Parts: sequence; C-alpha cells; structure tokens
Amino acid sequence: MSERDARPLWHGRFAEGPADELLRFTSSLDFDRRLAADDIAGSRAHVAMLARVGLLTDEEAGTVMSALDTVGAEVVDGTLEFAPTDEDIHTAVERRVTQLVGPVGGKMHTGRSRNDQVALDLRLFLRREGRAVAAAVHELQEVLVRRATDAGEAYLPGYTHLQRAQPVLLAHHLLAHFWAFARDVDRWRDALDRADVSPLGAGALAGSSLPLDPDSVARELGFARRFENSIDAVSDRDFVAEALFVAALTQTHLSRLGEEIVLWSSEEFGFVHLPDAYSTGSSMLPQKKNPDIAELARGGAGRVIGDLTGVLATLKALPFAYNRDLQGDKEPLFDALDTCAGALRAVSGLVESAEFDTGRMQAAADGAATAATDLAELLVRRGVPFREAHEAVGALVRQAAERGIAVEELVMTDPRLGPEALAALEPGEAVRRRTTPGGAGPEPVRHQLAAARGRLDDQRAWLARA
Ligand code: ARG
Repeated sequence: MSERDARPLWHGRFAEGPADELLRFTSSLDFDRRLAADDIAGSRAHVAMLARVGLLTDEEAGTVMSALDTVGAEVVDGTLEFAPTDEDIHTAVERRVTQLVGPVGGKMHTGRSRNDQVALDLRLFLRREGRAVAAAVHELQEVLVRRATDAGEAYLPGYTHLQRAQPVLLAHHLLAHFWAFARDVDRWRDALDRADVSPLGAGALAGSSLPLDPDSVARELGFARRFENSIDAVSDRDFVAEALFVAALTQTHLSRLGEEIVLWSSEEFGFVHLPDAYSTGSSMLPQKKNPDIAELARGGAGRVIGDLTGVLATLKALPFAYNRDLQGDKEPLFDALDTCAGALRAVSGLVESAEFDTGRMQAAADGAATAATDLAELLVRRGVPFREAHEAVGALVRQAAERGIAVEELVMTDPRLGPEALAALEPGEAVRRRTTPGGAGPEPVRHQLAAARGRLDDQRAWLARA
C-alpha cells in the first residue's frame, strides 16, 4: 500500500493521521459494501452528467468510467481489496478508481458529497430489494389462492377468542390471509413510489456553485423525479422508515399466519400435517416434528419491529441536515428486508405443501354449538326479534349441557323450532347458509376467489413494470 492510500480522503484539513480506534469505530464498510453495485451505478450517472455539463472532458469521463467498470468487475468477483483508511464503500470505490487511473479519478467526486451519494445508493438498493419483497408477498398470495381453490367446499370452525364460533370454508379462512398480504403489496407499491426520488446534486446540504444537472441524473438512473430541497434530500430517511414499517406489517401478517400453522399442526387441533421437508426434528425427543418455519416467521416479527423502532428513534431528534447517526439506517433496513424475504419464501413453501386434515376440521365444525346462530336466525325469519331468539337458543344450549343431552333433541321437541331447524344442524348446512357478500359460504367465496385472482393480475402487471 502506498503512502497516499494510507490517508483518508479528507486528510487535507488534518495535520495528523486518524487513530486506529477512530477508523475502527467509524467505518461502515463491513455492511455498506453491500451497496457497492449501487454506488458504482450512481457514480457512472454522476460522471456522465459532469461530462454533459462540461466539468469533465469526454476523455476524462471515459477514463473514469472504465475504472468504474474495473471496480465493478472486482466487486462481482470478490477481488476488490479494501484499505484500512476506507471508511465506507464510497471512499473505497473512489480510492480504487484513483489508484487505477491517477489524479483524474479525483474529478469523480466533483459537486458531490457522500451525503447525497449515500442517500442515492440506499434508494437504488431499496428500489430493487423492496420490489423483490413485494414479489415474494405476491408469490405467497398465489399459493394461498391455489390452496383455497383446491380446498373446494371443505370447512372448519371459525374462531373468536379462540373459541369455536361459526363454521367457515377453509378457502375463506385462507383468503383472509390473502387480503392482508394484498394490502401489503399495495403498501410496498406506495412506499416505493414515494422513495422514487433522486437526491444526487444536493451536495453536502446546499447544492453547488458548479453547473450540475440533477434532473438528467435522475432520468438516467430511472428515478421518477429529483429532490426539491437539498437539505431535505440529505436529511430524509422517510423512505427507510416507511419501508421498515411495511416490512414490519408484512412480517406481522406472516407471524399471524405462522401462529395459526403452529396451532393447527398441534395434536390438539390436528388440522394440518406438515410435510417432512418443511418440518424439523428434536435433538432429544425422537417423536417430535416441529413447525420451526412457522415459529421463525412469527419470531421474525419481533426483530423487524425492532428494526423499525430503532430507526425511528435514531431519526427523532436529529437536526437537519446530515449527521453521522444516519449511518445506522443501513443494517436495520438490510436486516428487515432479508428477514421478511426469507420468511415469505419459506412460508410459501410450507403452505404450498401442507396437508389439510379436512375430516378433522369438519368434525370440529359440525355440531349444534357452531350452528346456534343459524337457529336464532331461523327464528328471526319467523318474525321473532333477534334478542329474544338469541336468548331462546342460548337457553336451549344451556339446558342441553345441564341435562347432558344433545341440542338436537331439544330442537326437535321445541315448538318454535322443530324439523326445519333440525335440518339446519345437518353437517355442512350452516356454512352453506352463509350467502351474504364477503361471507364464509360457497357462493360468496366463489366471487371472492375471482376478485383475488383479479388482484393477482393487477399485481403481476405492476411487478412487470417496476
Ligand atoms: N458512511 C456514511 C453513511 O453511511 C456515508 C456518509 C458519510 N458522510 C459524512 N459526512 N461523514 O452515512
């Protein structure tokens, strides 16, 4: 390593070199090297703009571009060597470019600060990785629709307070998760749209006296627009906080689905059998088959919520414009997107291959208790005020329990109920009676499935454009 390489890029102001402790403590290279490709893409667009406005000759720009190509290739094949004074990926790339082409490399940073550079890199990163998470949500939704279609008219108890409430089609229950994830995709779209702003050209915080052209840089990098305010451009991490919120909510939805898979796969419920390929064993208990994927998806929610709250806490008292605290935005963002994407893919595989025990589900849903509301509604159709009907059926259920007899027996002999009411208690009858729009029976679920497929088409069209 030459003398020159041992000095930080900002050495001019300093008579003494940096302490090792400072270098160790302030470096972000361990994690922001992940932004290398985005950093190089941003530098290419910046250099092209500098040439367009005459701050670099075409020849100079060509020389720097070819050095950036070399560094890009070194990043891809893992041969880019870092120096102890590389504070971050931005300084590492610039140092290497200058090492390759000499002093002309020093023109690359004209009119630019690492403050607008890092904001740009992170937005480029999020554009790609956020879309990938949204695509993974979409894939899980496709799995849910496939499983809902295959479930046909199978039904299970629906629960409130984790107590059996009313029977619902299995398809309906699976689609309930579908709609939560559909809103997540909407949120990803929305957040990514708001993040679609190029901050390059803001400089350290105030723009530049040089004739920069941030609009053309924004266009070249495929951004929808450039920043409106240079202070905002380098201070703003709303796009990180929003992405973290959407990731946290997506992961929360995964967690609720995971929790149900944990419950359903227990011997107590026995509604689902997990395939060997998606289950884990116990190191001590030979009989165990554990739903670890579902648990990790559930646990991941705690982690991603932590990423979100950590970044919000970092932002909350930061004066404008850039402060080094902002360096802490990257690891939570990387962690949240990795956690979320990983869990989405694993849960998709799990749901795709889970085997539903519809016999057990239906047995749990059949019986007078879950059809009690239907008995009350039968009375309502005969003109009885709902409150009275509710009380009458409630009393019937209580009597049956007290006398240790079947509700059906009392229904049969009750003058207000009788054979028609008994027919409503036949297996599967209660769920077939759920005919209202958005309800849990076969007819509304057919419409719902069509709407879900329409939503998937819409998402597919967006993903193809994004
Ligand atoms: N590593 C820094 C970050 O991640 C880059 C920006 C540094 N800017 C500065 N003025 N020290 O935020």
